[in-house]
Amino acid sequence: MSNYTRVIDGLHGRKIVLGVSGGIAAYKSAELTRALGNLGVDVHVALTEAGARFVTPLTFQALSGNRVWTGLLDEEMEGGMPHISLGRGADAILVAPASANFIARLAAGLANDLLSTLCLARDCPLLVAPAMNRQMWENPATQRNVATLQADGVTILGPAVGGQACGETGPGRMLEPVELCESLLAFFTPKLLVGRKVVLTAGPTFEAIDPVRGITNSSSGKMGYALAAACARAGAETVLVSGPVALSVPMGVRRIEVTGALQMRDEVFAALTGADAFVAVAAVADYRPAEPVAYKMKKSGEAIHLQLAPNPDILAEVAALPEAPFCVGFAAESHDLDVYAEGKRRAKRLPMLVGNLVSDGLGGDENTAVIYDEEGRHPLPRAPKTFIARQIVERIAHLLPTG
Ligand code: C5P
Repeated sequence: MSNYTRVIDGLHGRKIVLGVSGGIAAYKSAELTRALGNLGVDVHVALTEAGARFVTPLTFQALSGNRVWTGLLDEEMEGGMPHISLGRGADAILVAPASANFIARLAAGLANDLLSTLCLARDCPLLVAPAMNRQMWENPATQRNVATLQADGVTILGPAVGGQACGETGPGRMLEPVELCESLLAFFTPKLLVGRKVVLTAGPTFEAIDPVRGITNSSSGKMGYALAAACARAGAETVLVSGPVALSVPMGVRRIEVTGALQMRDEVFAALTGADAFVAVAAVADYRPAEPVAYKMKKSGEAIHLQLAPNPDILAEVAALPEAPFCVGFAAESHDLDVYAEGKRRAKRLPMLVGNLVSDGLGGDENTAVIYDEEGRHPLPRAPKTFIARQIVERIAHLLPTG
């Protein structure tokens, strides 16, 4: 397990130089600075002259906790050369927003201010998040410059399509801070599942009694969504069949929304073509009303009797397929985790199952989990669900048959 327990800690402890060029989206970079800081990133901001007119260096200094750089020559910097010193030891430079002008300067290899010089003198990856009016983005000159940057190995993040500060709608919006954080995280995630397809289930199922009532399980969907996000970041084609939850679709994930277990089973089987792994995180209701009523039932004050029919065990059915993908189950237990979880793994003939105690993780952002597989039991220390997800993905990648 030594390789498996190795901490791949995403963005925590990384040094990122955030370059801010002149564009109204610069106000979002203030939020980005804070968001990156919350993820444990050491953010060093370098502003172009135009960038500094949109948001002051003081704002970025307060948010990053580091000195902000604007000039090419600075006597406070070691050797007076921030364009060299600032980039030293950086894990990446992220320019957000990158204006059309800045992209053109980058593509031409100009070094006429601190940020462009920093980019030219770098020895780390460069990521660029364009932000501009849609006509500027669509202009062949900009497209040519972007293609040049890509050919030079620069990663382009976005832009998004949507409403713009100028009142127009189209491509050119800078990605939101949360999307830029996700993109950076994905950038630093080892591509352990590239070329693989993973199908997951998540959330509860909702079994209708009538059009407004139903039976459901308690499940926030957070663990399943965190796992889907981790699979996508690791490079997998990721399909998430999700019961009703209040979560947004993770970047790079195709979500199929379902309600009841029968619908979930149909969608899972439809999505399974070409799948290498099936990860069942959903808290599927064990029973459903045998005959849901098509109209809203009226209250009579009398006791009613609901006839319940057992739901199919989606995971067991997939695992029993002649050419089953690598199947991973989940088990939330209230006690005797080892006995029940390992028992379930064997009963459903799963190569891998993740168990956790209900008291530890239900609904929250953190969890304590244990992985059970043919090699034994592997406890994961208490950690955010995103972190647990990353370790589960590592284990899946490690155990997936090759070819
Ligand atoms: O049997 P139990 O519900 O405890 O097993 C839990 C595992 O089986 C989870 O991975 C869950 O997603 C999956 N499951 C399923 N279909 C069901 C019941 C459980 O896929 N009807």
